[in-house]
Amino acid sequence: MEFNIKSGSPEKQRVECVIVGVYESRKLTLAADLLDRISNGFISEVMRHGDMEGKLGSTLVLHSVPHTVCQRVMLVGLGKERDFRAKEYREVIRASSKALASTSALEAVSYLSEVLVKKHDVEWMVEQAVVVTMDVFYRFDMFKSKKDEATREPRKLTLAVPRRNQLVEGEKGLSRGLAIGNGMKLAKDLGNLPGNVCTPSYLGQQAADLAAHFGAKAEIFGPEEIVTLGMQSFLAVAKGSVEEPRLLVLHYHGAKDAQDRPIVLVGKGITFDSGGISLKPGEAMDEMKYDMCGAATVLGTFRAVLEMKLPINLVVVVPTCENMPNGNALKPGDIVTSMSGQTIEVLNTDAEGRLILCDALTYAERFNPATVIDVATLTGACIIALGHIATALYSNQEHLARELLAAGDEVADRAWHMPLWDDYQEQLKSPFADMANIGGRPGGSITAACFLSRFAKAYDWAHLDIAGTAWKGGKDKGATARPVPLLVQFLQDRADIAMGNVVRRGRPRRELSEAVDDEQD
Ligand code: BES
Ligand code: MN
Ligand code: ZN
Repeated sequence: MEFNIKSGSPEKQRVECVIVGVYESRKLTLAADLLDRISNGFISEVMRHGDMEGKLGSTLVLHSVPHTVCQRVMLVGLGKERDFRAKEYREVIRASSKALASTSALEAVSYLSEVLVKKHDVEWMVEQAVVVTMDVFYRFDMFKSKKDEATREPRKLTLAVPRRNQLVEGEKGLSRGLAIGNGMKLAKDLGNLPGNVCTPSYLGQQAADLAAHFGAKAEIFGPEEIVTLGMQSFLAVAKGSVEEPRLLVLHYHGAKDAQDRPIVLVGKGITFDSGGISLKPGEAMDEMKYDMCGAATVLGTFRAVLEMKLPINLVVVVPTCENMPNGNALKPGDIVTSMSGQTIEVLNTDAEGRLILCDALTYAERFNPATVIDVATLTGACIIALGHIATALYSNQEHLARELLAAGDEVADRAWHMPLWDDYQEQLKSPFADMANIGGRPGGSITAACFLSRFAKAYDWAHLDIAGTAWKGGKDKGATARPVPLLVQFLQDRADIAMGNVVRRGRPRRELSEAVDDEQD
């Protein structure tokens, strides 16, 4: 779909569909009012009849509205004007995109981004409209012989901004929205691909192509190089599969000073998690193709950052392999020596994510990172704790946790701060090695994070357990691309801090300025 920005009156749009908002209690937005006037009160009459009451997210498509030059007018309910905030705005964009998909209109002009949301400007309105619309129209049908015809993607969606002098702001929002949307599309595609296609070597190829496309550097290491690096914990997981492991390292230098300490993103890339010798039960085991969603997230984020040309230095590290139970496989009771030198007694081969991540975290030390964030579908226990709503967030730095929480809130990709107290470390004690790879059932997401923290002592670090948020089950089964929006926002905020603007796009960011104060203490 092609997106455009324009400014101009709704009654003058010669298109297949004009989209305007109406509030509850029959209050029209400016655009709806203009159409109402030219049509001699047609819209207010429809509302008086009660078919459209302005309820949040409701839609009504009207044909041949008198004296208009467009084929259709779509009314979108905005709910109560005083309750209309960012969350409602996103919901309205979602509803209008879905309604548009069920018409046969191929071109539309939307006036929803003209409605003002407190604390947000036109750039943000457009950015979010593009991100949400791309999310709604995303399909994963490359393996379907017949594509679904019931809903179709329009060819062109034009977003109207209130004034001509806001076109530049609108264009900025558009390119940011496209960058985030494209990053999310990459993350969803990689996540949704089946394990027989999306193998470690496939991920390596995709990462190399991605870097090449933007002129960035990619290093794709194979088994020999991983052996040389001493990543025996990572290799222990990989050896139960006939698929070779890969270690992907991508570099982006966007900061003015190439020597600026980079932010390192680490993503869990298990392309299929059978559990290994500690084999998983069969039910829904297919979903373990999503066990590389951490990798997909950091690659999607990398894509967005490069498209946005953010002034930061960024490194992405992805350890990727399959977790399978062949004759060479790692066994319960085996003891492995990690790259850090710490030894691990493997009590359960299904707790493999931490075994590949710990070596990647040690590897990250060589970049002298400002911050390291790992992203992983790490534990089923995380889903029990937080369901599918919030990502679990752990950090060895309060201020970093606060920055990430604030970024997630900003873009409706929320995380929840979990404890990383020493008290939980007890559960990882092993009689035979420096630690065990599991800490028992109580607090399973927390003890997994505690395990990782032992390999992240050299820098500011955060861990995102995305087991509950990276994909959806049920009828809308599929990867969600979370937490790409959170990470892009976090990196944007870091870029803003580096450039000296704490207030971005007219939005006071209290949490963020506090975080900055902390850092200066
Ligand atoms: N990839 C899984 C975690 C997972 C399970 C994510 C279900 C999403 C849905 C991870 O490798 C795993 O198997 N974790 C175990 C750890 C346990 C053995 C300590 C788990 O959560 O059961
Ligand atoms: Mn597992
Ligand atoms: Zn796993």
